[in-house]
This record gives sequence, structure tokens and C-alpha cells, in this order.
Amino acid sequence: MKKRVLLQVAAVALMGGCIASAVHAEDTIKIGLVLPMTGPFASTGRQIDAAVKLYLAQYGDKVAGKRVEVLLKDDAGVADTTRRLAQELVVNDKVAVLAGFGLTPLAFATAPIATQSKTPMVVMAAATSSITERSPFIVRSGFTLPQVTLGVAEWAAKNKIKKVVTLVSDYGPGIDAEKTFKERMLLNGGQVLAELRVPVANPDFAPFLQRVRDAQPEAVFVFVPSGVGSAFMKQFAERGLDKAGIRLLATGDVVDDDILNNMGDVALGVISSHHYSAAHPSALNKKFVEAFGKANNGMRPNFMGVGGYDGMHVIVEGLKASKGAGGEALLNAMKGQIFESPRGQVLIDAQTRDVVQDVYIRKVERVNGQLWNVEFDALKAVKDPGKSK
Ligand code: PHB
Repeated sequence: MKKRVLLQVAAVALMGGCIASAVHAEDTIKIGLVLPMTGPFASTGRQIDAAVKLYLAQYGDKVAGKRVEVLLKDDAGVADTTRRLAQELVVNDKVAVLAGFGLTPLAFATAPIATQSKTPMVVMAAATSSITERSPFIVRSGFTLPQVTLGVAEWAAKNKIKKVVTLVSDYGPGIDAEKTFKERMLLNGGQVLAELRVPVANPDFAPFLQRVRDAQPEAVFVFVPSGVGSAFMKQFAERGLDKAGIRLLATGDVVDDDILNNMGDVALGVISSHHYSAAHPSALNKKFVEAFGKANNGMRPNFMGVGGYDGMHVIVEGLKASKGAGGEALLNAMKGQIFESPRGQVLIDAQTRDVVQDVYIRKVERVNGQLWNVEFDALKAVKDPGKSK
């Protein structure tokens, strides 16, 4: 008799446990956030993680009566790891959406998983044009290299710069930047004297900078991924290229707000184009920069942080519209969203699932003792020009 009662108690307890966990699962919407939190590109992970946390702190983590739960995984910037983590998040954790993706190869590696499992995948950082064509489930909240390169290429033409050398990291985004800059240059009657590609990991810029010097261009156009700009600028100064009268033109990745302030005088006057500067003079951006700094020991948000912040906006607004459902309902609710971001107005193009945004021309200036990318001109509502035609 005693034994039977005990068994009944155990069974009830077990059932209770099951119900509790089922209720718990129903009550949460999971976002699988895969980022390089360690390794050479950890600054991208740190920025996006901080931005995602800030978004939820500011706007709340309740959507459609459920709690949004972010599962953060570190892929250390290794594509095989990204793929494995994404697979686990989809199969085991049943996430409604995958997000993050700090580098192009990491986004490429995950695209087939998004397609097969019909899981929306929000690319917050990786910026090779073709990423969105790898899966119909990909939505991008960051930018593309052709999109931002256009601005500085046009600036060069307007300022009568005719002879340039290009120097880019030798992978997707670098090749996109090189191609866009060259096409624009030639279209505007300029000349590209040399096209240099440097290794992505731990590059030694010295031999490439020597080749730039030897070619005697009026300017060198540079793309390196976020975080690498400091090493580049240091060697640029050490080789005396700034003193040799060779102008540095870049995408904003090189003079990234996360590291700009520590670059010193060599960065002064650098012209770049990009979709985000922490100095963007809007009320919303001022609020964003202040809150981001407050929550993160004074850290300045960079374009990766903004890609993460806006990616969360796209997901949360999408979930509101889909009433908390993931899959195709969420994907459809993310398409066509239009909103004010700290960078300015942003549209998620319903056809391409890529981001349409203003691209600013900026100059590094010292303001109140700190270095900033000060915006002085803009191309309005730029669509990615890099899609295969
Ligand atoms: C990329 O790998 O797509 C990437 C990474 C960092 C950047 C830009 C592009 O700053």
C-alpha cells in the first residue's frame, strides 16, 4: 500500500515536471546567436552581443506574450564550428531564428542549414554581397561591401583623384570592395595601377605597402575587416605612406569606431564611406551611443554593434507580426520592414532581403579630444549594387 502511494506520488511529480517544462518551452521564443566571441575577430562578437543585450534591456524581452531568450554561442570565427553550433541550435534547442555571423565564410557555412530547416537567418555582420543569395531564409541587417564602397569611389572621382592602388583582404568582402572601386574608377575616367590582396589572418602589410609606394598613386583604397584596421594604420604610418603624399581612402571597416580613437594622428583626415558612424548626428543615435557606453564601460558602438541592434529590431518586430511564430511566418514578417535606426532610415528590401540605407562620406577629425568619423556628405537609399546581374 505504502509503495503504491509512493509510486503515485512519483508519477504525479513526473507529470508535473513534464507539464512545467512544456509550459516553459511554449512560453519562450529562442534566438540562436552565433558570434566570434574569441579569436582574432572577437571585437565583432563583443559589439553585437552588447547591442543585442541593450536592445532587449531597452525594449523588453516579451513578445506576443512570450519571453525572448537569446542563446549565445561562440564559434571563434571558425566556419565548421559555426555550422555545428547552428545545427545544434536548430535541432536541439528548436530556435525560431538564427542570428549573428561575424564573417562571410561563417554565413556561407550556415546558409544550407537555414534552407533545409526553414529557419530564418539574420546576418548582422558578414557583408559579402552574395550572402543573401545563398538561402531564401537569409535577411541582412548590416551592409554590403559594394554598397559602402560606392561612396568613397564617387568621392575620389569628384576630387579629381585619377590614379589609385587598391589593397584588400583576400576573401569575399575584399574582392567585392576591389571590384566595385575599380569599376567606378574606370567609369569615371580613372586608373587602377595595381590591385593588391593581403591574407585575411594576421596580415603583414609591409611588403604590400612597399608596392603601393613604388606604384606612386595619388591614393590607396583599402578594405580590411573590422578589428584589423589598427594594425594596418600602424604599418601605414611606419612605412611613411602618409608623409609620401599618398592619400588613404577606405571603407569604414578600416577606421572602425571600436578602435579609431586609439589610432592616433595617422588617422586624421582619412576619408571613408560607410553606413554608420558613432558621430551620426541624429537624436536617436546620440541616445544609442550614450546607452551603449553606459552599459559597457564607455565602449563606443561601431557598425557591427548597429547591425546587431537593428537585427534584433527586425527579429522582434517580425515576431510581433507573426504572433511569436518562427519559420516562414517570421521570414515574411521581416521582409519589407522600414524603420529608423541609429544609422538613419533602413529598409529590408522584400525582394532581395538585403538592407537599403544611406551611405555617408566621412572624414576622421578630432572633436573634443577624441577621434570621430565626421559625416559630411551622403548617398541616399543605396541598394546593394553587387548582386549578380
Ligand atoms: C565579412 O567577413 O563579411 C566582413 C567582416 C568584417 C567586416 C566586413 C565584412 O568589417
